[in-house]
Amino acid sequence: MELDPTSLSQRDRYKLLIGGIVPRPIAFVSTVSPNGAVNLAPFSFFAGVSSEPMSLLFCPANKADGAEKDTLRNILAHHPDGVGAPLVVNTVPHAIAAQMALCAEELPYGESEFDLSRLTPTPSTRVPVPRVKESPLAYECEVMRVIRLAPGVASGGNVVLARVVWVHAEDRVIDAGLRLNPDGLDSVGRMGGLGYCTTRERFELPMGRG
Ligand SMILES: Cc1cc2nc3c(=O)[nH]c(=O)nc-3n(C[C@H](O)[C@H](O)[C@H](O)COP(=O)(O)O)c2cc1C
Repeated sequence: MELDPTSLSQRDRYKLLIGGIVPRPIAFVSTVSPNGAVNLAPFSFFAGVSSEPMSLLFCPANKADGAEKDTLRNILAHHPDGVGAPLVVNTVPHAIAAQMALCAEELPYGESEFDLSRLTPTPSTRVPVPRVKESPLAYECEVMRVIRLAPGVASGGNVVLARVVWVHAEDRVIDAGLRLNPDGLDSVGRMGGLGYCTTRERFELPMGRG
């Protein structure tokens, strides 16, 4: 099959991305609204960007009515272009996968997914946004840039590029050489549709000619 994106519906373009770019890591992002309400939402259009500066990105699309999802709304409430907005990217161990998925519920602005999921907000070190206590690894971040691909358009894309200003890693998931232990993290990934995968089956290969 040969497919021209310009002749497909947005829904079909989405299916080709979500089913083909797999597995995807999940950024479980906490943010705070101007009146202090804590928001928590998963985003699997998520990637590390660089270690200089230490940075990552995730992509909250617009809602069906073209408005910003609460995560982006909180970021833009901090500053009109989002720069400097604090947030935390928490990892998702298998043990909290169902609670993470529950947090994709579209709650009214200002209502906390922490309450809905019964996950535990706990203070971060460098940003005024709580991290998820049940996540063994959390990146505390400040937004560097927000790229808006189609503001106001239904499902329009947005890229949030954020600098990592602090890393919280539970002792059981990291060793003295700062190597993270995948068994300790037990992260889940997102597949197409409603599918997920674990990171429990792995293999190693040399880089290049080794
Ligand atoms: C595993 C998972 C991954 C998701 N990834 C994305 C994503 O990359 N971009 C996006 O816009 N929505 C994504 N969603 C849907 C959002 O989590 C959902 O729209 C949520 O309500 C947004 O929350 P907010 O309005 O509080 O920011 C994902 C949902 C799940 C369960």
